[in-house]
Amino acid sequence: MERTLIIFKPDAVQRGLCGRILSRFEQKGLQVVGLKLMQIHRALAEKHYESHKGKGFYDGLLNFMTSSPVVVLALEGKDAIAIARKMMGATFGSKAEPGTIRGDFGVSNSFNLIHGSDSPEAATRELGLFFKEGELVDWKPANQGWVYDLSKGQPE
Ligand code: RTP
Ligand code: MG
Repeated sequence: MERTLIIFKPDAVQRGLCGRILSRFEQKGLQVVGLKLMQIHRALAEKHYESHKGKGFYDGLLNFMTSSPVVVLALEGKDAIAIARKMMGATFGSKAEPGTIRGDFGVSNSFNLIHGSDSPEAATRELGLFFKEGELVDWKPANQGWVYDLSKGQPE
């Protein structure tokens, strides 16, 4: 099982889209193991997006991410990182395919509603940035045996 960090960005919170976006992940079968509303301060935004430092969009991105509250969540599932990225769609709202979160809910290239970790290394790093020890909860959903085929001991 993998865990990934998802952020509902300020535009998703301000536009009242958090419930609908979260529903998509729940319906897919990804399990929520952490969830909170928070305001990202500048230093945290800088750390989170440090790989983009120096790029033309970096300052605007930090301003956007710190401008208003976000919802951060940790999702768990087999291949959760890649599945969540696929559900999010392409980076720019104008290019994202219909059926994806960015494709269905936005047109903007800057205000693109959602962040998702893009690799196992990024997921570990980002979960550590946004969740303290003890804030992520290990629990077994009652329906897990119907979300996955567990007959061989591994989720399939
Ligand atoms: P994210 O990190 O937020 O999940 O988005 P992503 O992986 O799809 O895209 P990434 O390349 O990591 O870029 C991070 C965020 O920076 C903004 N951006 N603007 N104007 C531009 O060329 C440009 N490129 C990226 C987007 O808000 C993107 O989500
Ligand atoms: Mg990224």
